[in-house]
Amino acid sequence: MTENEKQLHDAAYQAVVKEGARVEADPYRQVYHRMPPVGLLNDPNGWIQWNGTYHLFFQWNPFAPDHTHKFWGHWTSEDLINWNEEPIALAPSEWFEKNGCYSGSAMELDGKLALLYTGNVKDENNQREAYQCLALSEDGKTFEKKGPLVNSQPEGYTAHFRDPKVWEENGAYYFVIGAQTESEEGQVLLYRSTDFQEWDYIGPFAGSHLNGLGAFGYMWECPDLFKLDGEDVLIVSPQGLEQQGNRFENVYQAGYFTGRADLEAPSFTHGEFRELDEGFEFYAPQTTLDEKGRRLLFGWMGVPDSDEEHQPTTSAGWIHCMTVPRVLRVENGAVVQEPAEELEALRAGEPLEMKVQLAQGAEAAVTPASEIVLETNSASEFSITIRDGLTLTYENGLLTMSRPSFKDGSIETRSTNIASIDELRLFLDSSSAEVFVDGGRTVMTARFFPEPEANIVRISGEGSVIWRSWELA
Ligand code: FRU
Repeated sequence: MTENEKQLHDAAYQAVVKEGARVEADPYRQVYHRMPPVGLLNDPNGWIQWNGTYHLFFQWNPFAPDHTHKFWGHWTSEDLINWNEEPIALAPSEWFEKNGCYSGSAMELDGKLALLYTGNVKDENNQREAYQCLALSEDGKTFEKKGPLVNSQPEGYTAHFRDPKVWEENGAYYFVIGAQTESEEGQVLLYRSTDFQEWDYIGPFAGSHLNGLGAFGYMWECPDLFKLDGEDVLIVSPQGLEQQGNRFENVYQAGYFTGRADLEAPSFTHGEFRELDEGFEFYAPQTTLDEKGRRLLFGWMGVPDSDEEHQPTTSAGWIHCMTVPRVLRVENGAVVQEPAEELEALRAGEPLEMKVQLAQGAEAAVTPASEIVLETNSASEFSITIRDGLTLTYENGLLTMSRPSFKDGSIETRSTNIASIDELRLFLDSSSAEVFVDGGRTVMTARFFPEPEANIVRISGEGSVIWRSWELA
């Protein structure tokens, strides 16, 4: 470890020691979602199961709940439920990453755990440079930096060039990476290597004005390309899309295309862009293939540039968390996300079960961390109010989530059209809700900040529902 690296690690650990107790006392700390020990968390990085152990890294600013510094924090798990905090994986100690160890991915390389990530550099005039860097670990705990493998973006692109997602296929290594053309169009570019040292730029793979797509945003972040159920899936987080009715309601989107990839051309014949999540907070997800053959996704339960400074936890010294792990599959060209089955191990005790006549309505006390499953196929409309902080209504084929805005308390909504709903599965935590509709065909995710003592969930509407709920511990 270089002296500079050691100093940064020490400073980060000191921030945890100094702020940890105050952060832990915050009533909005989550029970079963991954959070930063202090400071800010954003994208999931380096998500992999390696030698049986799950490794999840995260963009982390240990010093403040803002985006001014970026380290890679690190957790491991054997079961997706119990997680260990590991030593800091990457700190921005070297010249090629001095303004942040930005997002990237992991794979196994010659028996080692390899991280490929973006070194973000800004000069005194705020001019950006982007380096795609390698770090290697033999023990999965300490990482040795090997420096940049790719020193600049290709001709015709700006230095908004980041977030390599790497994989091995047919004896070659590939990565897709987020990029911006000089005319400010968001794209994903493809690189290939035979030895992981020399990387060739193959060409633009997907994006604005490619493969029949028109203008589609000014920057594409965090691409992820994989095969699933016979389709090629490209997940990406585009910036600069205009809202169209109830599509693209957040400041930036996270979604996917399915289709047919050609890595030689390169090209990607694909259908329309669909959002992965219809709620308020979801961005920059990353997937991996685990040893059970599952395509597992973690998302960041946050969105950049979205009034983050007004989220109530910032005054307690921390902000943001991950979603629950979700298992993906493709059905009729659409990505379906189901909570990983391991989460059932969180269910404590016997469920509360009841049949509710919605005209009379019902209310039940819940613990902040709970799971509610509602069979709604006999309900024509319903409204669910969770701890007086978040409301979900279904009426005339429109599912709407509403909450008071963090900024000024005015009610804000996110909606999606769904012709009929058979089942809702709600994962509630102290300050978040993830709503899985019909086995994950639609998902809505949000942070919300009810009075900490609030514990009532109310439901009303027309028709009836069967309710089952569990405390999660
Ligand atoms: C997405 C992102 C990435 C970048 C990282 C920096 O949220 O902006 O493009 O690598 O966050 O923290």
